[in-house]
This record gives sequence, structure tokens and C-alpha cells, in this order.
Amino acid sequence: MSEESLSHDHHTFPADPAFAAQANGTAEMYAAAEADPEGFWAAQARERITWAKDFETTLDWSGAPFAKWFIGGELNAAYNCVDRHVENGNGDRVAIHFEGEPGDTRTVTYADLHREVCKAANALESLGLGKGDTVAIYLPMIPEAVVAMLACARIGAPHSVVFGGFSAEALNTRINDAQCKLVITADGGYRRGNPSALKPAVDAALDHAQTTVEKVVVIRRTGQDVAWNDSRDVWWDDVVAPAAETHEAVAHDSEHPLFILYTSGTTGKPKGIFHTTGGYLTQAAYTNAIVHDVHPETDLYWCTADIGWVTGHSYIVYGPLANGATQLLYEGTPDTPHQGRWWELIQKYGVTILYTAPTAVRTFMKWGHDIPEKFDLSSLRVLGSVGEPINPEAWLWYRKYIGGDRCPIVDTWWQTETGAIMISPLPGVTTLEPGSAQKPIPGVNAQILDDEGKPFTEAERVGYLVLTKPWPSMLRGIWGDPERYRQTYWSRFGPEYYFAGDGAKYDKDGNIWLLGRVDDVMNVSGHRMSTAEIESALVSHPRVAEAAVVGASDEMTGQAIVAFVILRMDHDDEAEHLDGDALVKELRNHVAKEIGPIAKPRTIMVVSELPKTRSGKIMRRLLKDVAEGREIGDVTTLADSSVMNLIKDGLGAGGDEG
Ligand code: WTA
Repeated sequence: MSEESLSHDHHTFPADPAFAAQANGTAEMYAAAEADPEGFWAAQARERITWAKDFETTLDWSGAPFAKWFIGGELNAAYNCVDRHVENGNGDRVAIHFEGEPGDTRTVTYADLHREVCKAANALESLGLGKGDTVAIYLPMIPEAVVAMLACARIGAPHSVVFGGFSAEALNTRINDAQCKLVITADGGYRRGNPSALKPAVDAALDHAQTTVEKVVVIRRTGQDVAWNDSRDVWWDDVVAPAAETHEAVAHDSEHPLFILYTSGTTGKPKGIFHTTGGYLTQAAYTNAIVHDVHPETDLYWCTADIGWVTGHSYIVYGPLANGATQLLYEGTPDTPHQGRWWELIQKYGVTILYTAPTAVRTFMKWGHDIPEKFDLSSLRVLGSVGEPINPEAWLWYRKYIGGDRCPIVDTWWQTETGAIMISPLPGVTTLEPGSAQKPIPGVNAQILDDEGKPFTEAERVGYLVLTKPWPSMLRGIWGDPERYRQTYWSRFGPEYYFAGDGAKYDKDGNIWLLGRVDDVMNVSGHRMSTAEIESALVSHPRVAEAAVVGASDEMTGQAIVAFVILRMDHDDEAEHLDGDALVKELRNHVAKEIGPIAKPRTIMVVSELPKTRSGKIMRRLLKDVAEGREIGDVTTLADSSVMNLIKDGLGAGGDEG
């Protein structure tokens, strides 16, 4: 691994005493968690969650790496996110301020949410859905997405939300892997000022003989025409509107699966990460309280993630709703209809907590601080960052121009697999170090290991991040593939270390700095993409013989997808006439069709050879050098060392698009 030094003016930000006086997180929590980790988590679970039946044992790790938390406990996640707030007299509190991209708005109180979730749960049951059945959710960012997830949770049907930007192919793979019985989708959603369709992708995904899907429930959002299959499709309004407004929230076992969420791994096949109910909900609520410092009575919270990613699951749906918070849900993009849209929304709703990704911050930096300066952002009091390392420059800009030099920034490291935040400063407690996620939150334990698996603490030495103790919201496995779970996460450094796949180092103050993935997973605008998945999409095109994909560092998106392809010479097909730019465009669109627009390579270089070792392994390190415009590194292990010259000489043959 290469040493990385981030240069910046060294400036730290101590906690403001006024903030500290009201903060949910405290310094004492670290000591309490360290003294008795299980006791600490048991206390969090009992304090933050309402159990229909209390648990008997906090943790069973005897079947490691398969964990069980809060054993014997029973609860209903939807009851915790909705019903209990209404029962506690907070039914009139707004749960969701919805703002559609075209500017349409809706206000959903906890009482409204309760009614909608009950109706949806009744509707799903009337369609034959029951406990243990899996449901795919493929929706835009509308309140029904939240309602659909909670209705599934209520009846014990694990949901598998598929990001609306994924293609029919990607949706098909996910539906089949989880054997979904039902799909909840919409006619479409609004994206960059236009209605975009969703239902056609569902139709295409199900256009296979042996699908397990029996029903498709369609929400009307845009009003566009949709193809209809009478025996399979039903309108959401037709089943939900007439359904009864009450529904008993039966308690489920603490370890009952709550959801599956697919994420990219090092192979071409996405992994179905699954989470269970009690532990996940406990840590989602706990972290939202102590890291985002949510005070449900007074805060207006906004997480800008899409519900198709884990951030949307934990910090739009389960964490904030379990805490009874009021939040903003925004359907659209930051630049529609203008580049000040987010700041306009913050001003309009009086947003107090903003949780977003570094790539967004860097985009706003590029657009210029005069845009946010036109709006009143004085309501903000906490800023959060997630998804990729935030460079100190972006951190400082975020603090100055969005946070008015007063808001603490929490840089939160976690993963789909960890379910909830793991490493982050606590606002009001931690002296903030720009660019560093700093330290595991109370109850979480991390270390950095060297190549041999030995822990070290020296400053500025680069190693691998591992987690050393089970935590409540840890993944319980990979859906249908327990062996892959063990292999991927618990074998690299032996069974006592969870291998996160991230490089990390300590600074001289003991802060942890995350340095990006160490495996073949790329992080593009905070989205995980696997090189193998994009390579297999590329080689599925008739003109491509071989492909190698690398993540090249990119100022805006963190990493950018760069593909090297070797064309087939023997083909005979319609794409044959395409040349140069047209072919590159065709290949980019092909990847979009196979996976989704987010997977489109920024750059595709057509080459005549790929650098391989004598055993035939592609040397991505060298391709990365090319992609990042660096002097090419050591080529002695190449089977044919002239290959790199060939590649360099041939460059310029490819297209580069933003
Ligand atoms: C990266 C997103 C640095 C990391 C919640 C991790 C980060 C992957 C940070 C998980 C951060 C996430 N600093 N890197 N604050 N947060 N990452 O599963 O590489 O979509 O392994 O979960 O994102 O991505 P995932």
C-alpha cells in the first residue's frame, strides 16, 4: 500500500461548551462502553427501543462469525418507528416534510404515517404476503417508499430495496437472488426536471419464465402511461386506499430478518447483505441520537441519501423514525431547477441537521460559495458526511460556507455491512480533526493491522482497518451464502477480525484516517461499484474481447471508473461499423443498460493488450498508473514488459466523458 499524505493547515475545532451542554453524546459513554460492552449495548437497546418481550441474553457469539443479539427479545420495527410515537401523544408531530422535485409538497405526521403503514400492511397481506416472504422495492424518493418499507417490516416480510437508478438487469439479479414474491414500484419519478419511468424496468426484469414474483404493486407518481399485466399488476391506490386503517403490529423475534440490501463486492455477483431487527434498530437509533445529535422535539433533520442505499435505510427510515424525529425528504437532484435548491430547502424548512456525502460538498465547492451565501442557513447546527473520505479542503469549506463556522461536522465511517455508524466524532464531545473520522463510537472497537495481521498504533503507517468485537447492527450474513460471508469478512486476518476492506492509518493524535478501499471495489461519488461487475458488463458486449476496470482518483467523485478494453477482431455484428467515439459511447450505454447509469465508465480506453503477470492475472496497479496519468510503476512481473509501451502509445484512442 502506498503512503498517502494529505496536506492541509493543521487546525482542529474543540467542542463548543454551549453545544456540549445539550448534546446527546457524552465523554462518559466511552468509559461505560469500555468497562462493560454488553451491558452498555443492553442499556441502549432497553432505553431506545420498545420491546414487546424483553430479551434474556445480550449477545451470543458462540457461533462466530454468526452473531445473535438481544436473544429472546421480541419487537416490531414499524411499531417502534411509528405507533409508539402516536401512543405517546406525538401523533401530530411531522414525521416527513416531503418536497418533490417539481415543487409539490406533502406533510406527513406520525398519525398519518401510522394510518398509511397500517393500510399498506393490510393491503400487502390481502395480496397473500406474509412473514418471511421477501419484497423488492424499486421506488423514487417519495413518502410511499418509507411507508412500503415499514409495512414490510410490520408484517415481517424482509424488504430488498433496489436503487431506482439500477437497470432492469440489475433488478432481475436482485429479485431472483432474494426470491422476491412481490415488487413495489411506481410509474416513475422526477429526475432533473423530467419524469423518468420505473415500471418498464420492472416489466423487463420479470420478463423471464421462472420468476418468483406473483404481484407487482404500482404507485402512481408521474401519471405516465404504463404497460399493464392484468394477472400480475395492481395499483397501490386500488389496494391501499380501501384497506383498514388499523393493523396489529405482531412482535417478531429480535433476530428476524428485517431487510436485504445488495452491495458490490470483489466478484461480479452483488452480495445480499442482510440485517435483523433488534440489533439493527438499536444501533441505528443510538447513532442517530448521539452522532447526528437528533433532538426529536426541536430538530429538522435532513439526510440527502437515496433510500436505495444503506444510508437511506438507517438514517432516513429506521434511525430517525425510531427516535421520533421530524425530517425532510427530497425527491430530486441538487441542481434542479437551480444550483441553490438544497440551500433554498434548508432555509424554507429550517433544517438543523444536514447529512450528506463529500462528493456533494465538492460539487458545491465547484459551483461556488456565492450560491449558498444567497440563502439563510442559520438554522443549521450539525453537519454530517458519509460514503467516502472527506478531504480536509472540502471539510473546511463545508464548515465555513454551509456551517457558518459554528456547526460541528461528523465524518461518519460505516458500511452496508455494519448497518450503522461505527467510526465518527461525537458532536459536543470530540475535538474535530478535518478529514478524519477519528475514533470508534462508544461500544465499537477497531484496530489497524499490518500485512501480517499484527495490530500497530504508530502514526502515519498505513494498514488495514478491522473491527475487533461484534456489534448489534452487524450484518448477519450474505443472503443464501453463509460461506461467502465467512470468507469475505472473517478470514483475511483470522476469525477474530472483521475485515472491512478499507485502508487506514493513525495520525500522531491517535485519530483514524480512512484511506479508501484496498480491494477491487471502487467508490464513485460515495457509491460502491465492483470492478469485476463492470468488466463482466463490458465483455457481455459483442465487440469486447477483454476488459479491465480500475478506479482512478477523481477530484469530484473521489474515484472515477476507467475501463481498458480489447476489441474482438472476428466479430460480425451491427456494432461493427462503429468507430472511436461512437463505439466508446455505445459501450458506456451498454454498461448503463447492464447495471445502471451510475456504473458508466468515465473513460474507456481501447487498447491492443492488457498487462498481465505470467500467471495471467491483470496488473491493475499499472493500469491505475495510466488512468491517473502517473509514471508507470514496476513492470518486472509482467509476462511481456513491452505491453505497457503499447498501451501508452495507443492512448487517445478512447473517449473521456464527464
Ligand atoms: C467508504 C456507506 C471514508 C468505505 C455508508 C466503506 C468511507 C464504504 C466513509 C462503504 C467515511 C463510507 N470515510 N470512507 N466517512 N464512509 N466510506 O456500503 O470505503 O455504500 O467501506 O456504505 O464506503 O460503502 P457502503
